[in-house]
Amino acid sequence: LNVFGHGVCKLLPSIINDDWPGYSLELFNYPKHYSGDLECVYIPHGVIMDRTERLARNIMGDLGDHDIVVLCVLKAGYQFCADLVERIKALSRNSDHTLPMSVNFIRLKSYVNDQSTEDLHIVGAEDLSFLTGKVSSPAAIVDTGKTMKTLLKHVEAFRPKMIKVAGLLVKRVPNSSGCLPDYVGFEIPNRFVVGYALDYNEYFRDLNHICVISESGKLKYKV
Ligand code: HPA
Ligand code: MG
Repeated sequence: LNVFGHGVCKLLPSIINDDWPGYSLELFNYPKHYSGDLECVYIPHGVIMDRTERLARNIMGDLGDHDIVVLCVLKAGYQFCADLVERIKALSRNSDHTLPMSVNFIRLKSYVNDQSTEDLHIVGAEDLSFLTGKVSSPAAIVDTGKTMKTLLKHVEAFRPKMIKVAGLLVKRVPNSSGCLPDYVGFEIPNRFVVGYALDYNEYFRDLNHICVISESGKLKYKV
C-alpha cells in the first residue's frame, strides 16, 4: 500500500515504520485499569492532536468557504472527528477563512476480537438525503479499505457534490482495496492498535493514547 501512488492523497501522511517499537508505558500516564493489558504507547495523545491540527489546516485550505456536511464514522471515529471539528472551528474563529459545517453520524461495525469480519453493518445511513448537493467529509480509520469502499458507495448514491475522506490511521496491509482517504493522519504498520476511541471488543476507547494491546490484554477481553 503506497499512499502516494494512487494520486488520491495529496497530503503527506506521517509515516510510522515497521520497526517503530513505540514508547515505554513508563513514560506516560494511562488508566490503571489497563495495566498489564498494553504493550507500548504507539502514538501519544499529544502527537495525535498536533497532527489533527495540521489536517484541519489542510482541509480548511482545500474546502474553506464551502458548506460541508461532516459525516462521522462511529464508533471508532468519534474522537478524531470531534477533535478535527474542534480544530476547524478554531481556524474558522481566528481567520478570515471560514468553513460552515453540519455534523452527522453513521455507524459501522466489522470487527470481532482483532479480526475483520465479512459482514459489515451500516447503521443510521438509511437516509443520507441531507448530503445531496453538499460537500461531505467522513472521518474514519482505514485498514483494508473495504469498509471505506462500501461506505463511499453508499454515500455516493446520494450524489453529494464532492466527497473527501479524512482518516487518522491508514495501515500498510496486503490486499488493500486501493481505496485511501484524501487526508491521512498516520500511515502505520499492520498492527492492531487501541485507544483514542479505537476498541478491542469495546474496551480501550477510554484511553487517550493510541497503544498496542498485549497478548494478555487480548486474552482478557476476548469474546
Ligand atoms: N484497532 C481497532 N479497531 C480497528 C483496527 C485496529 O487496529 N483496525 C480496524 N478497526
Ligand atoms: Mg471496533
